[in-house]
Amino acid sequence: MKYRVVMIGGPNLGRLGTRNPEVYGRTSWAELETLCRRWAGELDLDLTWLQTDSEGDLVMMIHQAGDGAHGLILNAAAYTHTSVAVRDAVEAIDIPVVELHLSNPDAREAFRRQNLLADVVVAGIRGFGVEGYRLALEGMAALLRPQSDGP
Ligand code: DQA
Repeated sequence: MKYRVVMIGGPNLGRLGTRNPEVYGRTSWAELETLCRRWAGELDLDLTWLQTDSEGDLVMMIHQAGDGAHGLILNAAAYTHTSVAVRDAVEAIDIPVVELHLSNPDAREAFRRQNLLADVVVAGIRGFGVEGYRLALEGMAALLRPQSDGP
């Protein structure tokens, strides 16, 4: 069975490539999409790729993922640190949600240490840059596929 996985990027991630490259690298959002589509294909996942700068749209996209997908990989960007609405949306859906960040927010400014999502997601990946997107897809595939215990 082909699992449907939604990846959502929050505010300012559409500017990847030129936005603070020393923190986020030089891969653009469009290039990241191409990479993720390739990795998802290798994992036999059906990928929906979304980005929004708006909090309300992000809440709506999370609801829609909960209604139609098997798993959600979410880089809520700055809303991770500020949005009760995004947290409530994640809590309100019944599919596994993996939190993802390119940088390690805990190793940056103090205000990024507030995380409203950490205790309502199944797992988190942070600090691996673009590679974290591949790890998140692999992790989601492992979560969704029943693993056999024996050899
Ligand atoms: C980010 C980290 C957040 O603190 C920041 O607001 C972002 C990107 C990341 O991917 O490293 O916009 O989520």
